[in-house]
Amino acid sequence: MSLDVLLGLQWGDEGKGKIVDVLAPKYSMVARFQGGPNAGHTLEFDGHKHVLHQIPSGIFRPDILNLIGNGVVLDPTVFQREIKGLDPYNIDFSKNLFISKKAQVILPTHRLLDKFSEISRGVNKIGSTLKGIGPAYQDKIARQGIRVGDLVLPGFYDKYKALSQFHLKQLDAAIRKEYEPMEAAFFEAVKFIKEFNLVDGEYLLNEQLSKGKKVLAEGAQGTLLDIDFGSYPFVTSSNTTASGACSGLGAAPGTIKEVYGIFKAYCTRVGSGPFPTELLDAVGERIRAVGNEVGATTGRPRRCGWLDIPLLKYAAMINGVTKMFMMKADVLSDFDEIKICTHYKMEDGTITDRIPFDLVNQNVEPIYKVFKGWTEDLTRITEVDDLPSQVVNYMEYIEREVGIPIHWISLGPNRTQTITLKAELF
Ligand code: GDP
Ligand code: IMO
Ligand code: MG
Repeated sequence: MSLDVLLGLQWGDEGKGKIVDVLAPKYSMVARFQGGPNAGHTLEFDGHKHVLHQIPSGIFRPDILNLIGNGVVLDPTVFQREIKGLDPYNIDFSKNLFISKKAQVILPTHRLLDKFSEISRGVNKIGSTLKGIGPAYQDKIARQGIRVGDLVLPGFYDKYKALSQFHLKQLDAAIRKEYEPMEAAFFEAVKFIKEFNLVDGEYLLNEQLSKGKKVLAEGAQGTLLDIDFGSYPFVTSSNTTASGACSGLGAAPGTIKEVYGIFKAYCTRVGSGPFPTELLDAVGERIRAVGNEVGATTGRPRRCGWLDIPLLKYAAMINGVTKMFMMKADVLSDFDEIKICTHYKMEDGTITDRIPFDLVNQNVEPIYKVFKGWTEDLTRITEVDDLPSQVVNYMEYIEREVGIPIHWISLGPNRTQTITLKAELF
């Protein structure tokens, strides 16, 4: 009986969806524990490419239960669209998809409040996905949110009206105008979602564990977007780190066994906020083009930069990572040299590998170690022994610095383009 947690060690989009899909057959259940429609998890298999937002990435594997946990903020309209988008796959959702009654509901006015808040911030905007994430979590913490279980209770409509009216009063007239058509779509989606399995997620999950089954918790976003440990205030509004899996599912801490940390062989970030190793030159542009670094949810170009070891060490520490997956090394082919940031030089000249409290207002200068690049097309490699020595050197350096083994390497977006480096995980 164990819960394994899989999460991003950077600013999201590390390739979590792909790896959850690869690992899912080893588990009886895949469970999302935080975030919501701000996530975009891309899966590629058998000629299909599919982006999931709120539905767990085990959904394409028959016989695997998928749970949207209590820690998630769920938008019914996005849910309805996602389910429709899965039509071609003939999935029997009555058997494999479960939604916690304790998950919070994103209302149309949460999306409008998100937009209003970003407009009000002006140049200091967070770069939110505008999916209503922050306002929905705000209402949860303010103890006035609406939960999925409320949708089927008699008092739902009155609760909805009261909360929406409260929100609308906070909006300016121009934004308020957008509300009506959104409300109609919302009520249609509420009707739709009521037909799905709305459950006590914490019981469902713990029943799996007590039957000796294995559950995989699928993180969304990444460690540096965590509300407590990320580059605050340029973060999302949930705990994206390992502890979030306990509170977001109702799993006791002692049930966690492995914590799989996923990182790209370089770094990306969407939205605003500090990014010490960001490349604002042709090199960054090339990584973006080759890596197809465009947001899976918003279509925004992702900012690109070199790998940052201080951030990776920090993420490994906060999450108690036991094994790592290195993604997208194929994107770095054909660079004469590849850099890794090992330390930061602070404004006062001191050198550190710790993350300063204020990464936002403090200029940190990355100190780089330079690695020789490789020219081989890694996407065709299927055996560990065929990896170029430069790639092996690159990984060994990271393992030494972070102090955690890289067990798998991903060399392309497809399910099949994944190589096990160490002994099998299971
Ligand atoms: P997630 O949010 O962590 O699930 O990641 P996203 O799906 O937002 O972004 C990862 C992107 O990289 C997607 O377009 C994936 O199809 C793609 N991808 C995943 N692994 C690899 C890889 O090893 N190489 C390449 N070239 N693309 C990858
Ligand atoms: P996945 O799960 C990358 C970023 C947004 C913004 C900040 C806050 O696909 O890795 P929010 O809408 O949550 O209030 O936005 O967080 N962000 C992500 N960046 N991947 C994600 O999810 C993200 N979800 C949110 O761009 O900077
Ligand atoms: Mg993503």
